[in-house]
Amino acid sequence: MVDPATFRDVMSQWPSGVTVVTTLGEGDAWHGMTASSFSSVSLDPPLVSICLTKTLYSHQLISASGVFGINVLAKDQIDVGRRFAGMDKVEDRFAGESWTTADTGVPLLDSALGWFDCRVVHAYPGGDHTIFVGEVMEGHAARKSAPLLFHSRGWGQFADVLPDVATLSDSGVVSGLVAAGHGPETARIAGQVADAGVRVRVADISDGRTPVEGVLPRFVAMDRASVVVADRAQADRVLASGIGTVEFIVDPTDPAAVTRTVEALDGIADRAAVTVIDPFDAVRLDLVLSAVQQFARAGVAEIALPDTAGGATPLTVRGLLQEAVALARPVPLRLGLHDRDRLGLVKALTALKSGVRHFDTTVAGLDEAVATEDLIRLLDEVDVDTPVDAEALVQLAQTLRGPAPNGSGTAQPPPCRPGSAPHRS
Ligand SMILES: Cc1cc2nc3c(=O)[nH]c(=O)nc-3n(C[C@H](O)[C@H](O)[C@H](O)COP(=O)(O)O)c2cc1C
Repeated sequence: MVDPATFRDVMSQWPSGVTVVTTLGEGDAWHGMTASSFSSVSLDPPLVSICLTKTLYSHQLISASGVFGINVLAKDQIDVGRRFAGMDKVEDRFAGESWTTADTGVPLLDSALGWFDCRVVHAYPGGDHTIFVGEVMEGHAARKSAPLLFHSRGWGQFADVLPDVATLSDSGVVSGLVAAGHGPETARIAGQVADAGVRVRVADISDGRTPVEGVLPRFVAMDRASVVVADRAQADRVLASGIGTVEFIVDPTDPAAVTRTVEALDGIADRAAVTVIDPFDAVRLDLVLSAVQQFARAGVAEIALPDTAGGATPLTVRGLLQEAVALARPVPLRLGLHDRDRLGLVKALTALKSGVRHFDTTVAGLDEAVATEDLIRLLDEVDVDTPVDAEALVQLAQTLRGPAPNGSGTAQPPPCRPGSAPHRS
């Protein structure tokens, strides 16, 4: 028979989610404990199981009351998991959280990812544990977020496996080239970026002053071109011209603008991308997530989250994306990468591990964005394929990093101009 230490070591390599199992004591007093042995048993009838140490107080109470609640914890609830596991000595494990009483009387955690209200229908002996099988009377997936995990005796969180393929778009090359003095060469260079397999933002007509005819890309393949528009009327004209994608730029703190954009997407959502402005500012997190959810429900082709001013950190990127990827699924998120403090690639890797596989970078790092060629190299190093002509982009970047054609020195990235209007010819 395997020795207890080996048994524990092997089990510690088995990752699990974390629940708080609640039940009732004398006088319907609430009690609860952390449990990772929660498992689905049957769909018809709906049954789940938990496996509890026989000596636990919770075991005694569930045996006596015949009821228990399952509360699935989210990644930001380590403190709850610790408290209910008896790791932090507190007088009242329930204090500081909001709870609702289920029909059976057990408490349910309002901020849990989901809960079940159960009645015990079987209690099987399982060595020094008892396997309680509960019939699920009611359930609710209350909140969409990343789950809390337990692995190797530590708390953890979910990281999507790295994707096989990542795609690239470039919303800064045209404005960056204009600012760097490339003038008439701009359209030809943008065309080269598109020919290499990158979607290029060719114009921003959202100010209403530029007619659609004025932005038709002469050098960029139409299906690889995108244009920023202000409303549905502009979007219809741009799409009718054959341009592949229209982009709406939306402030998530303006609910009317969010609603207007959702309405504008009707019937054209599969050819539209929505950019949510300034998404990494922690104070607007809830509004950003709500906007992401609404655009995803509208079936938009992609939701862009640009780190326009470079204020995001690897941690804020992780924090937002873990929530936003889950809310947007199956709609892909596209991360716009800024290279402030040279942390752009770290943020890219963080985003990859959080489930993002579409990026917005700029060839040669124009507009202070992460350089497309640098991201391609990173993706190559971590074995993520990019359907682009990497060699052509690297060569183009080398040329662009040489002296600028107007003789103003090298084509260094100009100061970042959020929402800057790119090339219009
Ligand atoms: C992540 C985690 C998962 C746990 N899962 C279980 C479990 O499935 N079954 C069990 O008997 N104890 C489990 N425990 C231990 C109990 O949470 C712990 O013994 C708790 O203090 C029991 O509460 P009680 O003594 O008030 O009943 C787990 C502890 C942690 C940290």
